[in-house]
Amino acid sequence: MCGIVGFTGITPAVPILLDGLERLEYRGYDSAGVAVVSPREGLQIQKCKGRLQVLRDKLDSQPPLTGTAGIGHTRWATHGEPNDVNSHPHVSQNGRVAIVHNGIIENYVEIKQFLLHKGVTFRSDTDSEVVAQLLEYCFNDHTDPLDAVYAVLERLEGAYALGILCADRPDMLIAARKDAPLLLGYGDGESFIASDATAIIAHTRDVAYMADGEVAVLTRAGIQVFDEYRRPVEKERHFIEWDVSAAEKGGYAHFMFKEIMEQPEALRRTISPRLREGQVAFDELAMTAEDVRRFRRIFIVACGSSYHVGMVGKYNLEKLMRTPVEVALASEFRYSAPLVGADDLVIVISQSGETLDTMAALREAKSLGARVLSIVNVVGSSIARESDDVLYTWAGPEIAVATTKAYSTQLALLTMLGLWMARCLGRVDSAEYAAIVSELEALPDKLAKVIASTDIYQYLASLYFNQQCIFYIGRNLDYALGLEGSLKLKEISYIHSESYAAGELKHGTISLIEPGSLVMSLATYAPLLDKAVSNIAEVRSRGADVVVLTTEEHAERMGSIASHVLTVPGTHPVLQPNLGVVPLQLFAYYVALHRGCDIDKPKNLAKSVTVE
Ligand code: G6P
Repeated sequence: MCGIVGFTGITPAVPILLDGLERLEYRGYDSAGVAVVSPREGLQIQKCKGRLQVLRDKLDSQPPLTGTAGIGHTRWATHGEPNDVNSHPHVSQNGRVAIVHNGIIENYVEIKQFLLHKGVTFRSDTDSEVVAQLLEYCFNDHTDPLDAVYAVLERLEGAYALGILCADRPDMLIAARKDAPLLLGYGDGESFIASDATAIIAHTRDVAYMADGEVAVLTRAGIQVFDEYRRPVEKERHFIEWDVSAAEKGGYAHFMFKEIMEQPEALRRTISPRLREGQVAFDELAMTAEDVRRFRRIFIVACGSSYHVGMVGKYNLEKLMRTPVEVALASEFRYSAPLVGADDLVIVISQSGETLDTMAALREAKSLGARVLSIVNVVGSSIARESDDVLYTWAGPEIAVATTKAYSTQLALLTMLGLWMARCLGRVDSAEYAAIVSELEALPDKLAKVIASTDIYQYLASLYFNQQCIFYIGRNLDYALGLEGSLKLKEISYIHSESYAAGELKHGTISLIEPGSLVMSLATYAPLLDKAVSNIAEVRSRGADVVVLTTEEHAERMGSIASHVLTVPGTHPVLQPNLGVVPLQLFAYYVALHRGCDIDKPKNLAKSVTVE
């Protein structure tokens, strides 16, 4: 939520900030702004409601902002409606400092009251403005900007990633972080801050991830980092493996479509390095077979689509390991006094590695003594850093708000983990083990087959894009798959959609079925196909159109009872959702396209949810 970029160097800051904001726009897009500082003009700001293009147009219509140090922000509103005034950067009353902020200052009302009593005038309705005003107020007692920043941070409660500019220090940028992502970029004669690496990858691939409580002082000469007690910190530097082209559309109309098409390659990167001589091998795990034998229960904790991965995981892990698995929404888990302890494994799943609720759930689990293993896409992210073990998905940067390739790679990795743990427990026989490994090897090619032609999805979308509501039904793994299919559709097309365990239909939902309703019946799970057939008959006899998703092997049987059939190649049942999800992604994509929706940036959503 909200994207931050900052730069200090010898070239004009604005083009670098705008380029960075463009790549961060997926984090929030209801307003945008930049501030730069120069020796002659001091602080100069431009900000406005709307997409980044509105800001670009405004900047183009005025003399260029001069300054070689600056900060930029793209907003996802929490406090205060999206308008020009509430946009970031926020400037203090007397124009001494400008700040950009991601996160929520929880005690902003109290700080605001305090400053109002001191005669400070506020302009916006945001929580963030208090940081700028308090900082200027602290300059009364401190002449050194860093002293003033530490004095402010001492009083802030909540979460923040901050970029700060001071009018009288045109070469300097200060950054601070607590519970919101921020990284540092080391360039040649220039330094950067950013919410994520995509914003600065065109300039440097040499980065360090700020930790909670750290403050950084950036100048063109380099970056100094201090911990919460102001002791100097030597940061570990990371080299970003992917380059700028991975974060660009590369000729595709939308990032979402590009990312759907990248799934075979992403899966290959996730799976191949972890298969050796017919065995699953996790060199990166500190967890041993003995640890696995100690676990009484497994919890899978996540939000959104990552939670849906966990739903598939529950079926698969229980089947393979015969160990009880509970799946929990991170936002519920953290406040439910969870019955988790030292004999439990908590698997945390997160594409961004920054989702606030997931992070809080992780901390809760750790404080209760559980071992935490995370499945994460973003290297060096907070969740990765705080976990006992990390498995990276290696999906590459995912830009579209609606996840596709991250979901696919999380799913494959979780199944591999389940297989590896099942083997540690001696609960999977060698024939089944070998069959799953061989299907894991074949998975990227089978997925490539699914995306080879998109005609059928375009055709179905043209028939059904005007539906008021679309139902997804399925049993077992198909039920878990339906949750994701339904979420994809509602996220990007704004069609109301529900996903039900097909056996529950008769307990209420069937009353909503009427002539012309569209039911997506997911029937890829071979052991329960007969049950799927009965459920299809029930909704068809009430006038519903039924699109059945099944495997090639069962296409004919399903074709005889459905309005339309979508097929995917067959694989081992534990991997079938990895193929089944792709037609659902493509159907959602084309429905949204027909409806003229903003597919990569759906309304009200943001990709990285760093507030509660
Ligand atoms: C947002 C995104 C979803 C994602 C969820 C959890 O809602 O739009 O695509 O599944 O956050 O994010 P995470 O980064 O923790 O997987």
